[in-house]
Amino acid sequence: MSRRDLLNYLRDLGWRDVDATVATPRAAARPESTRAPAATGAEDPLAATDLKAMGRALAACKRCRLCQGRTQVVFGVGNPAARVVFMGEGPGADEDRLGEPFVGKAGKLLNAMLPSIGLKRADVYIANVVKCRPPGNRDPEPDEAAACMPFLKRQIELIDPLVIVCLGRIAARYLLGTTAPISSYRGRWTKWMGRDVLPTYHPAYLLRNPAAKRESWSDFKKLRERLKQEEGRG
Ligand code: URA
Repeated sequence: MSRRDLLNYLRDLGWRDVDATVATPRAAARPESTRAPAATGAEDPLAATDLKAMGRALAACKRCRLCQGRTQVVFGVGNPAARVVFMGEGPGADEDRLGEPFVGKAGKLLNAMLPSIGLKRADVYIANVVKCRPPGNRDPEPDEAAACMPFLKRQIELIDPLVIVCLGRIAARYLLGTTAPISSYRGRWTKWMGRDVLPTYHPAYLLRNPAAKRESWSDFKKLRERLKQEEGRG
């Protein structure tokens, strides 16, 4: 997508005051990763000292019932030393097939939103609360999220991001322990694992509810401010 197409696309979505000067993504400050390679499953995922080893060790995971319907474990993707982690709920059909989070329609919207705050997909890390597709795209069950949580926490420790963006109510439910409507806490900074967390709407919700795009843009501007603030300190 060209820069002009991207700007038009975002404006069509309701992001009226998109800053044209930031629509050109910065180069990734740190090396980009690739998806975790196919696995042997022999290692202990929690003992892994890098994401690739952890991805390998989890690839044959059978710790919850989601293993029965998945094509593959969708470990996560992006910069292994990202300042920002985007956290979704769980892989959908496209993600299950391709082995990468947020590659369907919601992912395309996320990809289009990132350059508006000076980021591109390869700068950030993208993961989900559960790493295997829930059947029929249902919400992950608490025991499934609990089974995956130690690995998500270890993944976060290894990435060591400044900010985690919770995409949608399911990610917020399992990270922050809230079942309140997301409209009541989105855009409000909180903490998880000692990191700044910004809950916002899930891109799939934005596709269904275009009116929420204005609030989502306001949340993304908060993220941009937080990152600028940190750059100022560095
Ligand atoms: N929705 C999510 O929450 N995660 C994905 O990876 C894709 C869609």
